[in-house]
Amino acid sequence: MDIIGIGYLGFETPKIEEWRDYGPNVMGYQIAKSAETDPNSLYFRTDDRRHRLAFHPGPIDRLAYIGWEAKGRLEFIDAVEKFRANGIEVTTGDAALCELRGVRELIRFRDPVGYQHELFYAQKWTPRSFTPGRPHGGFVAGKRGLGHVVLITPEYTPELENFLIKIMGFKWYGAGAGKGRTGFFHTKLNTWTSHDIGYGHAPGRMGIQHMGMTVDSMRDVGETYDLVKKREIPLLMTLGQHSQDPCVSFYHFSPSGFAIETIYELEAWQPDGFELNPERLSLWGHEIVGPILGTSVRTPEEVLDPAYLASKPKAS
Ligand SMILES: [Fe+2]
Repeated sequence: MDIIGIGYLGFETPKIEEWRDYGPNVMGYQIAKSAETDPNSLYFRTDDRRHRLAFHPGPIDRLAYIGWEAKGRLEFIDAVEKFRANGIEVTTGDAALCELRGVRELIRFRDPVGYQHELFYAQKWTPRSFTPGRPHGGFVAGKRGLGHVVLITPEYTPELENFLIKIMGFKWYGAGAGKGRTGFFHTKLNTWTSHDIGYGHAPGRMGIQHMGMTVDSMRDVGETYDLVKKREIPLLMTLGQHSQDPCVSFYHFSPSGFAIETIYELEAWQPDGFELNPERLSLWGHEIVGPILGTSVRTPEEVLDPAYLASKPKAS
């Protein structure tokens, strides 16, 4: 599948008002205009797209959907055919949903874990319209997507890898340096970063562990770090450099309990030509000072929609 990367993410949260302050004033996101049909949701921009992040009111903090961007209409049509040919249940977004997302067309489907995904093409865009919520040099998004996510899966199955690699067409990047079982994947068209999505195995647990967003300058990492410390927002990992990517980053907890990794690329990522097996997670820094799994990681029964849970065949 000709997928570029993650075009948008949607969350549910009881903390919309906290995000309304934190989003622009800590992260530098721009508050986007909410649709007339969805006035209670909060939308953020990180570049010239209509929005990249959506926060919908809900009783608990959870990832509601991941919006993957197909390169264009023809690639979208091919992808829909592939899902159907492989027996993946897809539903077509109606005009009202496409308008909410600001896209031409979209489909919705689930991965074998139960996470809700969408595939779309052509999101609304206005060149040179992004204005950060505070002085900020901007985010690296644009043609490569908004960043990456790492999700927790209660079971790490061959079916999951088959879905990601054989159907979604993702490239296997590697297992990372962590002790547990984690898989990192990037889309077929992503030549900029090592991963768009990771699935980490934690028995009986499910939810978003962190979201990674790249900023345009090291200064933006440092100034975000200063703001996080000034507000006494808990950190997950201090400033450091991963062994597998030429990036500097730190992780802190968002109002929704998942971590945000703020990243600066020291140099362009290059595919390695062989599968990395790092001795350690980071070359320097990245001292773990908070829980690896934040409060957004819960049981599948808490995170999944009741209707979907009822329809899901029990694991044998
Ligand atoms: Fe990350």
